[in-house]
Amino acid sequence: MPLEKPAIIPQANPKAGYLAQKTEIEAAIHRVLESGWYILGREVQEFEQEFAAYVGMPYAVGVASGTDALELALRGCKVGRGDLVFTVSHTAVATVSAIERCGATPILIDIDPETYTISPHRLEQTVQKFFQNPKFAQRLKAIIPVHLYGHPADLPAIMSIAGKYGMVVIEDCAQAHGARLENRMVGSWGDLGAFSFYPTKNLGCLGDGGLVVCKDPELAARMRALREYGWQERYISSFPGINSRLDELQAAILRVKLSKLEDNNQRRREIAHTFDQTLATTAIHAPAVAADVIHAYHLFVVRCEQRDRLRQALLSQGIGTAIHYPFAVHSQPAFRHRVLTGVGGMENTDKICREILSLPLYPELGDDEILRIVRALARWK
Ligand SMILES: Cc1ncc(COP(=O)(O)O)c(C=O)c1O
Repeated sequence: MPLEKPAIIPQANPKAGYLAQKTEIEAAIHRVLESGWYILGREVQEFEQEFAAYVGMPYAVGVASGTDALELALRGCKVGRGDLVFTVSHTAVATVSAIERCGATPILIDIDPETYTISPHRLEQTVQKFFQNPKFAQRLKAIIPVHLYGHPADLPAIMSIAGKYGMVVIEDCAQAHGARLENRMVGSWGDLGAFSFYPTKNLGCLGDGGLVVCKDPELAARMRALREYGWQERYISSFPGINSRLDELQAAILRVKLSKLEDNNQRRREIAHTFDQTLATTAIHAPAVAADVIHAYHLFVVRCEQRDRLRQALLSQGIGTAIHYPFAVHSQPAFRHRVLTGVGGMENTDKICREILSLPLYPELGDDEILRIVRALARWK
């Protein structure tokens, strides 16, 4: 009798996260259903307070997605048409589309080749170049560092550049809930932090959701109004806004999941450590961790010159992988030939796109599955 092939280990598994807290999640859903209040109620308020306290920021505003969180953060800071916003090309398209949605112009900067986050050196060179042009000197408004894969960007350097040129810093924390730099949470370094709760994230809901944290009460009030038609008083729009509300069901689910986020991140780090040890004996490049960083390991992204062959070899052993992201934003059809890029080009960004591969990594991975992944990696030649 032929042996049955083991099931594929998926690269991400949001259902496992639901099953791990099934009873509490279903109780939370039931509580909301019975409450009869489904939009912007007690659950959203409580979750906003709990999440703000977790990050260490005074205010939080729940919105409908991570993309909206970035857009409302920018609009809240009055960034609009003709303004320049500096970010990376090596990110989810959402970071760049949020900038364009509020009418501003994104300038895409190359990344550091080790941490895959914005290069402060290239950022400063590019900001300087635009600052020297009288047409743009007054238009430098914001920097959006992306803590990609769960590794914090070089925030001290970025904050210093922003301070020098009077720009706000909006941290894109969509992939980094709970990551820390110098013992301080991401999201609490900049003026604002934007989070996504897409189901596969370290803190994910069962649908779409997002949130912005900030320090300034007036800014928080403006974003609260912006998420609901610009209402400061019900049915009276003080300024143009949109509909982007975190709903009660998702907030109730997020409250349950927040209680386990620290444990889950710790489990992610333990699995990452096991992978690191195996990779040290192979030709596959493990992800770097900068000094004073606590990585959130949203993704475990390796680099390999023969990436496609490695991907196929893992798949043939029942291990699913993904590529985050196969094409940087500046080379995608919607942006190619029109989006502005920074000084020094996109050398590091373009190189890593051809080599990166995300292995399965989530807290519910079983020890037997981890062993299968480790053995397959050790076999790679
Ligand atoms: C880095 C980054 N920024 C922004 C977003 C947008 O989040 P959402 O999908 O919730 O709109 C995502 C998620 O896909 C992301 O990974």
